[in-house]
Amino acid sequence: MTTPPTSGSATARAFPNLALVKYWGKRDEELILPVAGSLSLTLDAFPTTTTVAVDPGLDGDVFELNGAAASDTAAERVTAFLDLVRERAGATDHARVHSVNEAPTGAGLASSASGFAALARAAAAAYDLDLDTPALSRLARRGSGSATRSVIGNVALWHAGADDETSFAEPVPAPDLAMVIATVDTAAKPVSSREAMRRTASTSPYFVAWITSTETTLTEMVAACRAGDFTRIGEITEAHAMRLHGLIASTEPPIRYLKPRSIEVMDTVVALRQEGVEAYSTADAGPNVAVLVRPEQAEAVAARLGDVVGPEKVRTAGPGPGAHLLPDAQPPAGAGGPVGDEGPAGAGS
Ligand code: PMV
Repeated sequence: MTTPPTSGSATARAFPNLALVKYWGKRDEELILPVAGSLSLTLDAFPTTTTVAVDPGLDGDVFELNGAAASDTAAERVTAFLDLVRERAGATDHARVHSVNEAPTGAGLASSASGFAALARAAAAAYDLDLDTPALSRLARRGSGSATRSVIGNVALWHAGADDETSFAEPVPAPDLAMVIATVDTAAKPVSSREAMRRTASTSPYFVAWITSTETTLTEMVAACRAGDFTRIGEITEAHAMRLHGLIASTEPPIRYLKPRSIEVMDTVVALRQEGVEAYSTADAGPNVAVLVRPEQAEAVAARLGDVVGPEKVRTAGPGPGAHLLPDAQPPAGAGGPVGDEGPAGAGS
């Protein structure tokens, strides 16, 4: 059998998401099947734009990130991902991958989510794989768990699923939400989420309780979203984030992602609520704090958080679209330099 010629090229864009019910822990490391479902808001800020160009003349894949050759580890992850796409497409040719990521890498803003969602979308098109949205979400999952949800716009529910086929994300109706993101630190995190999840599963006495309680929390959160109950969505979001950081702190050796400044932001959010402004904080595996608000209150909350971390380190984001293809002629945002044309290369960076 001859291999079909694949010399396609495609560009896709995807946005990070912030989990309101967190994903933490895998029950299958290779397939990236989570121990529980999760739910997130895809943002309209910090996009990743990725071009995949299949090139029969290459001996191996080439991966350029923000205008420079990517690290070996990042390049290996991209090649492992492209191998999956090639296997499904019955293709063998390698590709050039150019990616521009406008989020501060490694700081808990889930740059791997936008990265693998954009890569999945672009690679599927470049290798002529015709995938529907659930299949694309499953493919993105193989790159990074949280990427499963960035394939979907606005509020996305990632079903834990029973196997590869059933573990994908889908949209959930929700009221209008916005996030005010206070950047506390843009340095790479001390322990990757991959490693921290492993450590949690093998050392935390709370891990089993985390799994069972997260499923209950998720059911409650989906109901709150469908009911348009902003207050309940916020309460669950804040409680679940605190549980995540408590769980992470319970590992041996312990891991702590939050910094004193993160706690200061969280305390400001509590003070805002006492003043009657409904705001709820959350943080992924990093020190940056995202605050869930009603869109009409985003500006006032941003001003308050600016007093804590500095106004230039606060960014407001609304709901963003799922991973999508861009017209071929359009170069990645920020081509020719690390800073995109859609805004700063990351809040406060
Ligand atoms: O997709 P990963 O392996 O980077 O894990 C992300 C995990 C959290 O961001 C901390 C939580 C989540 O649900 O996104």
